[in-house]
Amino acid sequence: MTAALEFHGVHKSFDGNPALVDAFFTAERGEVHALLGENGAGKSTLMNIACGLYAPDHGVVKVDGVSAVIDGPLAASALGIGMVHQHFKLVENMTVAENVAICHMASGPAGTGESLNAVRKRIGDVSRQIGFEIDPDRRIDTLSVSEQQRTEIIKVMMGGAEILILDEPTAVLTDEESLRLLDQLKIFAGQGKSVVLITHKLREVFSHADKVTVMRAGKTVEAGRDPAQLTPEELSRLMVGEAAESENLEPRAGGDVVLELKHLSAQRANGTTALDDLSIELRAGQVYGLAGVGGNGQTELAETLMGLRHLETGEFSLGGEMLKRPSPRALHARGLKCIPAERYIYGLAGDLSVMDNFAVSHLNNKKFGSLGWINRRAILRGTQEAIEEYDILGATPTTRARLLSGGNAQKLVLAREMTGESRVLLAHSPTRGLDIRACAAVHDYLRSACKKGVAILLISEDLDEVLAVSDRVGVINKGRLVGEFDAPVARDAVGHLMVGHA
Ligand SMILES: Nc1ncnc2c1ncn2[C@@H]1O[C@H](COP(=O)(O)OP(=O)(O)OP(=O)(O)O)[C@@H](O)[C@H]1O
Ligand SMILES: [Mg+2]
Repeated sequence: MTAALEFHGVHKSFDGNPALVDAFFTAERGEVHALLGENGAGKSTLMNIACGLYAPDHGVVKVDGVSAVIDGPLAASALGIGMVHQHFKLVENMTVAENVAICHMASGPAGTGESLNAVRKRIGDVSRQIGFEIDPDRRIDTLSVSEQQRTEIIKVMMGGAEILILDEPTAVLTDEESLRLLDQLKIFAGQGKSVVLITHKLREVFSHADKVTVMRAGKTVEAGRDPAQLTPEELSRLMVGEAAESENLEPRAGGDVVLELKHLSAQRANGTTALDDLSIELRAGQVYGLAGVGGNGQTELAETLMGLRHLETGEFSLGGEMLKRPSPRALHARGLKCIPAERYIYGLAGDLSVMDNFAVSHLNNKKFGSLGWINRRAILRGTQEAIEEYDILGATPTTRARLLSGGNAQKLVLAREMTGESRVLLAHSPTRGLDIRACAAVHDYLRSACKKGVAILLISEDLDEVLAVSDRVGVINKGRLVGEFDAPVARDAVGHLMVGHA
C-alpha cells in the first residue's frame, strides 16, 4: 500500500539552528498516527512543512507515493492536506461562516467564491455529518476554545482534506471534549483518511492511536510503532531519554491567609453569570487547586486577579489590604504574579525579543534598574540564567518570542513570573501544552515556591494535575464554588462536581 504522507531525510534549520535533522515519518491511510516528542523536538516544524508553511532545506516529502513540492498552503490543500494549528488561525471579529468563506475564497480561482449563504449551508451539512454542532453565524470571539477548534476542523474538512493533521488539539479541551474529538478522529481514519495527531498525552496514544512516531531534538527516534507493543515507561523514555519520575506529595498545612476572595460576582459582556458569590482563601505555603470544566468562570476569575476586570460585587484582600479596583501594576507591586492561560494574549509580545519579554515584569526590580533607568546588562544576564534554569530550548535573549515552540514560549512566561519575590502566584493552566518533563519541572517550581511561603492558586482543567499538586481543592461550576476538599482528594468526588452533579 502506498503511504498517504511520507518524509525522508528532512532537514530544516532556522538561522543556522537545526530544528529537523534527517527526520523521517510515514502515515498510512486509515490510521490515527500519533506524533510525540518533547517541547521543541520539531513536531510542529515537520507538519508545517507538510502544509506548506515551511520548505525543507533537504529531503523528500511524498504524498500518495509521489514526490511533492508543497510551496504554500494552497499547494497543500490541493494535495488534500489540512492542518489544525497549535495556535488557531481564525479572524476573531468575523463569524464562523465568514472565516470559512475567506479561507475557501483564497483556495479557489478568482471569481469562483461561493456565496456566504452557500457556505453557511455547507457548514451545516459538514457539521451534521461529523456530529459537531456549530452555529455558522456566531462570531469567533464569542466561541469557546473547543468551538473554535471545531470551526478549524470543519474548515479543513470542507477543503476536502484526506490527510488531516492536528497539532496538540486536546491541549485546550476538557476530558470529555477530548474524548469526543478523538473518537471523531477514529471515524475519519475509518473512512480511509490519514490522521496525524501531535500530542503530549500518552494516555491518548494508547487509547486512540494506531501508530506512534517519536521525535527527539529534531530526529526521528522511533517510527510507526504499534503503541500496544510499548509500555508508558518505554514511550516516555523514547521521548526524553529517561523515564519520567512519578510525582508524590505530602499535603502542606499552610500558614496565614494571604489572599482572600469574598463573595465575588461578575457578569460576562453578553449578560451571563461568570462568577457567582465566589469566596476562596489562599494560605501561605499552600497550593489551592481550582478544578473545573473550562468556561465556568475560571478566565473571569483570573482576569479579576490580574486587575483586568472589575467586579460587580465582592472584594478581595491581599496580605490583609483590601483592594477595590486595583490596577495590574498595583497587584504586581504587591507581589501577585500570574501565569495566564492565554499566553499569547496576556503573556507575551510575540514581536519582542525573549529578553524584552523577560524584562517587562522586572522593571521595578532593583536588580534590573531603578528610577526609570534600565540596566540592560543585568537583564541580559537574568534572561540568560532563566533560559538555562528553565531549559527554554531554541531561545537566546534576542530571539523573537513568536519563534519559540509552543511549550518553550510557555516556559518563558513561567520563568519571568517565577523569578523574583512573590507572595501569591496565580497559575492558570500552567502546564497546558508542556511535555512530561516540563510538566514535572513546573510542578517542582510550584512546590519550591510553596516552600518559600508563596500562596498558589492553581486554576486547571486537568484534574490529574490539580490532584497531583494541590493541598486544598475547590471545584468551580457555573461561577460558583460547589465544593472544597483537603488533600488527599478522591478523583471521582471532584469529577462529579465538575460536571454539575451535586
Ligand atoms: N519560524 C521559526 N524560526 C526560528 N526557529 C523556529 C521557528 N519555528 C520553530 N523554530 C525552532 O525549531 C525548534 C522546533 O520547534 P517546533 O515548534 O517544531 O517544536 P515542537 O516539537 O512542536 O514543540 P512544542 O511541543 O513545544 O510545540 C524549536 O527550537 C523552535 O524554537
Ligand atoms: Mg509544537
